[in-house]
Amino acid sequence: MELKDKVAIITGAAGGIGKATAKLFADEGAKLVLVDLKMEALEEAAQELALEPHQYLLVAADVSKEEDVANYVRQAKEKFGRVDVLFNNAGIEGLVAPLVEQTAENLDNVLNVNVKGVFFGIKHVLPIMMEQKSGSIINTSSIAGWIGFPGITPYVASKHAVIGITKNAALEAAHTGVRVNAISPAPIETRMMRAVEEGSAPGKAEEMKKAYTEAIPMKRYGEPEEVAQLVLFLASDRSRYITGSTYLIDGGYVAQ
Ligand SMILES: NC(=O)c1ccc[n+]([C@@H]2O[C@H](COP(=O)([O-])OP(=O)(O)OC[C@H]3O[C@@H](n4cnc5c(N)ncnc54)[C@H](O)[C@@H]3O)[C@@H](O)[C@H]2O)c1
Repeated sequence: MELKDKVAIITGAAGGIGKATAKLFADEGAKLVLVDLKMEALEEAAQELALEPHQYLLVAADVSKEEDVANYVRQAKEKFGRVDVLFNNAGIEGLVAPLVEQTAENLDNVLNVNVKGVFFGIKHVLPIMMEQKSGSIINTSSIAGWIGFPGITPYVASKHAVIGITKNAALEAAHTGVRVNAISPAPIETRMMRAVEEGSAPGKAEEMKKAYTEAIPMKRYGEPEEVAQLVLFLASDRSRYITGSTYLIDGGYVAQ
């Protein structure tokens, strides 16, 4: 029970990586605050994971809106009295198209969710954790935070930004005992990759998946449960001397 009685907020909790992490955290004894855009999707996730009623809180929120973020943090504190872990995981891939065909609207949407969502989450959780003198924040970057990925420039920009925010927040919080780190997954088997495959070559998603898989040294996509294991490590006290770091979980992708 690595997270016994710890309170963990997970954003994007109805999606692939978020839900797998919620399951692992619940198995490890955490109390969960699950955040996503729609309450119905959260209710389905809670039911699927067979969570005990006393063990969780569901909050519908758009992480790109600061008032929504302030609200999920306030509700977490009111219900459980503290916040030990924030998994800033909600994200969108946005429009898949060459940079010259990208729209200002898509650029705004992707940066709003992927960058502002992470920023606001940290901004509103840090004061609570600093007062506690403990806590771990895990932000979700991507291999697209390390290298380019043609067709999703706004996403690549957003995931590079997450690494910068992570370093800065870690430096500002380090003396208080609060840690801030990020993870950078390669393609993972979730809805998001289906959208990227289809968006890259409409009607040829299968071929795109084969091509992406071929480019990964381990010759497969990762599973959401594998990402959840890294998040658990960074959330738990086993990583107590780690802050300001970004961990690749990529089947060797960025080593090439
Ligand atoms: N799947 C991959 O290959 C991959 C690789 C690297 C990084 N990531 C990152 O992992 C994270 C999770 O992605 P996933 O693969 O589980 O995708 P997903 O689409 O299955 O899940 C994302 C979840 O975020 C939620 N969400 C989107 N916008 C939101 C908003 N404004 N407010 C609140 N919730 C919102 C969605 O409703 C969804 O449930 C994302 O940040 C993504 O960029 C994914």
